[in-house]
Amino acid sequence: MAMEKRSISRAKLGLLVGILFCSIIITLKITLTPTIVSISTKVSLPTTMSLKQDSHYYSSSSSPQPLLSPPPPPPVIPPPPPLQPRPPPQENKESTIEKQTKQSPPESLPENRIMCDRTPSRYDLCKISGPTVVDPNTFTFFELGPTRSTRPNLIQKIQPYPRKYEEYIMAHIKNITLISGPRGPTCKVHHNTTALVFSAGGYTGNFFHDFNDGFIPLFITVNTIFHDEQDFVIVITEGPDWWIRKYANLLHVFSKHPVVALGNDKSTHCFPSAHLGLISHGFMLINQTMLPNSKTYQHFHDLLHQAYGQGHQMRPTSRPRIVLVSRKGSGGRVIINQRKLIRVMKQIGFDVILFEPTLKTPLEESYALISSSHVMIGVHGAALTHSLFLRPGAVFVQIVPIGVDWAAHAFFAKAAGQMNLEYIEYGIGVEESSLVDKYGKNSTLLKDPFALQRNGKGWPTEIMDIYLKKQNVRLDLVRFKSCLKEAYKKAKLFMYQQEK
Ligand SMILES: *[C@@H]1O[C@H](CO)[C@@H](O)[C@H](O)[C@H]1NC(C)=O
Ligand SMILES: *[C@@H]1O[C@H](CO)[C@@H](O)[C@H](O)[C@H]1NC(C)=O
Ligand SMILES: *[C@@H]1O[C@H](CO)[C@@H](O)[C@H](O)[C@H]1NC(C)=O
Ligand SMILES: *[C@@H]1O[C@H](CO)[C@@H](O)[C@H](O)[C@H]1NC(C)=O
Repeated sequence: MAMEKRSISRAKLGLLVGILFCSIIITLKITLTPTIVSISTKVSLPTTMSLKQDSHYYSSSSSPQPLLSPPPPPPVIPPPPPLQPRPPPQENKESTIEKQTKQSPPESLPENRIMCDRTPSRYDLCKISGPTVVDPNTFTFFELGPTRSTRPNLIQKIQPYPRKYEEYIMAHIKNITLISGPRGPTCKVHHNTTALVFSAGGYTGNFFHDFNDGFIPLFITVNTIFHDEQDFVIVITEGPDWWIRKYANLLHVFSKHPVVALGNDKSTHCFPSAHLGLISHGFMLINQTMLPNSKTYQHFHDLLHQAYGQGHQMRPTSRPRIVLVSRKGSGGRVIINQRKLIRVMKQIGFDVILFEPTLKTPLEESYALISSSHVMIGVHGAALTHSLFLRPGAVFVQIVPIGVDWAAHAFFAKAAGQMNLEYIEYGIGVEESSLVDKYGKNSTLLKDPFALQRNGKGWPTEIMDIYLKKQNVRLDLVRFKSCLKEAYKKAKLFMYQQEK
């Protein structure tokens, strides 16, 4: 009976959602996994939710913690300003910078070896198509063309971080200057391969952002610009010291050359050419149709495997292995009845592993664990980015607290589809939210989060914090059990397919 009710509301939801956002995943989910309890009781998928919210959410709720030893200072990200309504990125929307560049000399002048494309909404790209020397003190790339005294100086600026639409974080990204005309400083370190220049600053230090704004755009950029054939040197304009150490293996798969970190390295470097900026296709997405060599997530997975798949081995298991990604501490979105949940999982037949990643967790270990598992499950949050380590065909269960439907879809559900994961979503009911204790089940806060958005464009920070940092989850284990059983069925099938 209860099940019937749910399928009706799911059907309604499918219709509604179809005309809103993320229709593909949800409708697919509805048709393909009809027995799954899914999606929260309320449709609250703002079509234009402020993009600042996601960053605000990730930067604050799981703010970067010390990593590796010795603990580095956490990335300096001041508290976000109050949310302001801001339009989502729109392709081809002319920015003021774009207008400015149009006034610079036409790009076709033969001596113009510096070119920038500022049309995309998420990123800028610049290119120096001749020899260049970079002065690390002023973050300036000098184009070293044949000197012609009559040539006017050409100056371009770029912030090589793919969140151009988000003023708040961009204000903290270094501006890089590209200049032709004046003679540059003398070159100390000569490189024979082109430079790929980007920022590892911003939200770096948060596992979601490390991939969403870093490695996935890096993968896309390499495959777009170099077609995965050309050799290049990675040059970062800024970033925490631990970043190169933590991601050494992955960086090494991209480029065999040591990373040049401009902030730390005070010598001048010169390159035969340089590309600045990273291309993003949207949250956690790799859009095959936009890549000249048609690469997909499969290829990104191959890179991860090359980087992390060589070491640790997990013991084999006869039962499907489920990894419960657990959020710790006072950051919110904790499963209050986690112990009981684990008991239920074991009853169903899972081999349960509790995974509490910190910034110090070695990626080889996380990779070995996740990539040998059949199910990964957790409450929406940055740690679910570990779903990147699951094998295609594995099951990924996302528990979605009240009010975070939009982020759940945009950051993880869509990408799960691209990665060919068996995606299951469990939207908690009002009664399963800890907020019910304080606000009552009839409060608008619980019943209609969308209504609290300002002009449908985002919550004020206080409201955002309530959903993301003050909300914990007390799972209705009777209802959730059917979800787990579905996951178990899919996991057994996946195991069987793996053995064949
Ligand atoms: C870089 O330039 C932009 C636009 O001119 C500016 O808003 C931003 O504050 C600058 N960032 C830094 C870190 O100086
Ligand atoms: C670049 O090539 C030159 C000549 O082949 C060589 O002497 C030099 O060591 C190379 N530099 C680097 C950084 O590989
Ligand atoms: C991929 O790019 C194409 C062409 O730009 C676009 O039509 C399509 O919607 C994109 N797919 C996704 C999943 O964003
Ligand atoms: C919530 O609303 C229902 C129906 O409108 C009502 O019966 C119930 O008493 C209300 N509960 C609280 C705690 O206000």
